[in-house]
Amino acid sequence: MDETVLAVIDEVTAAAARHDATQADRLDRWRVLEPEAGRFLWFLVRSIQAKSIVEIGTSRGVSTLFLADAARAVGGRVLSFDVDAAAQDDARETVRRAGLADYVEFRLGDGGAALAEIGTGEVDLLFLDAERTEYPSWWPHPVRVLRQGGVLAADNALSHAEEIAPLGELLHQDPELVVTTIAVGKGELVALRR
Ligand SMILES: C[S@@+](CC[C@H](N)C(=O)[O-])C[C@H]1O[C@@H](n2cnc3c(N)ncnc32)[C@H](O)[C@@H]1O
Repeated sequence: MDETVLAVIDEVTAAAARHDATQADRLDRWRVLEPEAGRFLWFLVRSIQAKSIVEIGTSRGVSTLFLADAARAVGGRVLSFDVDAAAQDDARETVRRAGLADYVEFRLGDGGAALAEIGTGEVDLLFLDAERTEYPSWWPHPVRVLRQGGVLAADNALSHAEEIAPLGELLHQDPELVVTTIAVGKGELVALRR
């Protein structure tokens, strides 16, 4: 990974730890992705040559940085959605400082509504890192948008296994998908579209 990107990731991750430690309400925390999970996303993008990458849940852009660094290497781009305008403004500046502005488009909006607007089979990698319990209400779009050979990844598969379980059930019911959980960071539930 690019040294400048890694330095920015370290900086934002440390700032997030300081910030989150002072916040009693979970929703006020930045809850950025663990570095090892970020490296896993980076590995995924490079492995499947993901050019069309969609992220739901920008927050301060830590996962965005991992995805965009890999996207730059494969000629791809990241489209990142969040409902929090202030968080996205922060992430936009962070991504600019990391030299990755050309590889990311930020859009303010609900992830479910956004996925419903995306064409069938247009996405190579979909990363879900928003409110876990909302994902089933977004069906069928999280899988519909994936191309053949595309991957869906959802964070918190191990840290919040009960909340992620309904998503897992939907994925496991779909015969077009191969589904597993990777024990990295807080756990990544991944599904590959055959
Ligand atoms: C766990 S944080 C994302 C962390 C981020 N991926 C990172 O690594 O820095 C969750 C984010 O999801 C956003 N969010 C919650 N519900 C959403 C929705 N329905 N659509 C889009 N974003 C949503 C929140 O505003 C919050 O910024």
